[in-house]
Amino acid sequence: MAAEIISGKEVAADIRSQLREEVLGLKEKGIHPGLAVILVGEDPASQSYVKGKARGCEEVGIYSEVILKDASITQEELLGEIDRLNKDSKIHGILVQLPLPKHISENAVIDHIAPEKDVDGFTPVNVGNLVIGGECYLPCTPHGIIELIKRSGRSIAGKHAVVIGRSNIVGKPVSLLLLQENATVTIAHSRTANLAEVARQADILVVAVGRAKMVGADYVKSGAVVIDVGVNRGEDKKLVGDVDFEGVKEIASFLTPVPGGVGPMTITMLLKNTVEAAKRICKA
Ligand code: GUN
Repeated sequence: MAAEIISGKEVAADIRSQLREEVLGLKEKGIHPGLAVILVGEDPASQSYVKGKARGCEEVGIYSEVILKDASITQEELLGEIDRLNKDSKIHGILVQLPLPKHISENAVIDHIAPEKDVDGFTPVNVGNLVIGGECYLPCTPHGIIELIKRSGRSIAGKHAVVIGRSNIVGKPVSLLLLQENATVTIAHSRTANLAEVARQADILVVAVGRAKMVGADYVKSGAVVIDVGVNRGEDKKLVGDVDFEGVKEIASFLTPVPGGVGPMTITMLLKNTVEAAKRICKA
C-alpha cells in the first residue's frame, strides 16, 4: 500500500491563517510582534531561507527586519548588533542565520541572544529548559516535525522512534520532543553500526543527515511513519530529501515530501514563536 503523503505546505498554511488572526488581535491591544533576522555573508541557501522568513512575517502581519552583514564582520561587532536588538522594544524575536563564518563562534553568538527573544530555541537557557521540561521556545524544525506527525493522526506515545542525525538544530532536540511525547527514542548517526537494521525497527523514522536519498526502502519497516528533514540539491539541481521518496513511499504508511514537507513547517513555527515572544514580553 502506498504511503499517505502529508503536505507540510497545507498544514503550514492552516497554522499561518490562525496566526494572522492572533496577530490582528494583538495589534488591537497595541502589541505588534517583531522579528529581527541577521544574515552574515552571502551563502545562497541561507539567503533563500532568510527571504522565506521575511515573506512569512509579511504574510501573518509580523514586523520584520533583515540585517545583512558582510562575511568580514568581527565577532565583537556581531555581538554589538545583538546587544542593540536585545534592547529594541520593536523586536520580540531574534534569529541569527547559521552557519556563521569560521572566525565567529556560533556558541558565543547564540549565547548572547536574550533567552526571552530566542525564537530559534537555541540558547543554553532554552535548550536546558527543553531538557528538563521547563518553559521554553521549542526549536522550529523539531516542533514542526511533531506537529506534522500529530496532524497525520498517528500517535507517538509508546512508539519506537529512530532519529538519524544528532545535530543541535534537529537531531538532538527532536529526540527530546519525541521523548516528551512518550516515544521510546533511539538516536542513530554516522557511526551507528548496522544503521539500516536499527532504522528498520522504527515505527517513526526521522531522517536529518544531509545526504541525498541516503535512506532507501531497506531502512524502513512496513507501515512506518517517515519524516524527511533533508534538503539537498540532486544532480539535476532539483531539491531532494535524505529519503529515496519513490522507493520508500511503497513501504511507509506516511511520508513527508521534499520540498513541501518539513520545510514550510520550520518557518511557520518560527512565526508562532515570535507571536509567543511578543505575548510573553508584553505580558499579553
Ligand atoms: N540554519 C539552518 N536551519 C536553521 C535554523 O533553524 N535556525 C537558524 N538560525 N539557522 C539555521
